[in-house]
Amino acid sequence: MTATVFGVDIGGSGIKGAPVDLGRGALTQERHKVLTPRPASPEAVVAAVCEVVQHFGHRGPVGLTFPGVVVGGHTRTAANVDKGWIGLDAEGLFREALDLPATLLNDADAAGLAEISYGAGRDHGGVVMMLTFGTGIGSALFTDGALVPNTELGHLELRGKDAERRASSAAKERHGLNWEQWSVRVDEYLDLVERLFSPQLIIIGGGVSRKHERFLPLLKGREARIVPALLRNDAGIVGAAMAAAAKAD
Ligand code: BGC
Repeated sequence: MTATVFGVDIGGSGIKGAPVDLGRGALTQERHKVLTPRPASPEAVVAAVCEVVQHFGHRGPVGLTFPGVVVGGHTRTAANVDKGWIGLDAEGLFREALDLPATLLNDADAAGLAEISYGAGRDHGGVVMMLTFGTGIGSALFTDGALVPNTELGHLELRGKDAERRASSAAKERHGLNWEQWSVRVDEYLDLVERLFSPQLIIIGGGVSRKHERFLPLLKGREARIVPALLRNDAGIVGAAMAAAAKAD
C-alpha cells in the first residue's frame, strides 16, 4: 500500500481531516476543518467532507468516523446527529461523492484504534477501554489489541438515564457543574463500566481530555489504571486512516 491514506473525523461541531503517516501515527500536514453543517443531514455532511478532502487534492483511500453505530458501512444509530443517517449506506454515499475508496467506522472506535497503536494503550494487552467525553460518551473496547466495535457504552443506564446525559462533558456544561461535581458523576459511570467489564486500563479521551489535569486527579482510585489519551484531537483522524488502510491491504 503506497498511496497516502486520509482520515476524516466527523464531529458534532467540526469536520476535520488530514493525510496520515501510518508509520508514525501522525498527520503529515496541518488538518483542515470546516464547521459541521446544521442540520447535519447526510447530504450536507457529505458535501462538507468532500470540501475537506478536496482541500488537499487527495486521491487514495479515505477513512471516516461517524458518531453512531456503523455496521458494514451502514449507519444504524444517530444519538447526537440528524436522524436521517439511520439505516443509510453512508459508506457508499461517501465513496460515490468522493469517487475514492471509503471506510466508515464509529468515532470512538477510531480514536481507540489510534490510541492502542500509537498512544496511551500502546503495547497493552488484556482488556483496554477507551472512553471519549464530548457531546456524548463514546466507547471502544479492546481485548489483546483487537477491537470489539460499536460497544456504545455511553448509553448504559445510570440513575435511570442514558449515562451520557449525566456524565458527558456536554452534561457538565448543560448543568453548570464544576470539575468536582462532574468528577463525581464520571466516577459513578466508571464504577458501572468497571463492574461490567473489569478493564485493566481505561483511556480517557474526547475534547475534555485536554484538561485532564483538572479532573483525573479528582477521580477515586480503582482497579483499572486511568490515563489520558495521548493523541488528543488527532486520534479520530489517525484511527480513520488506519481503518481505511486495513481495508485497502
Ligand atoms: C453515540 C456513539 C458515539 C458517541 C461519541 C454517542 O451518543 O451513540 O456512537 O461514539 O456518542 O460521539
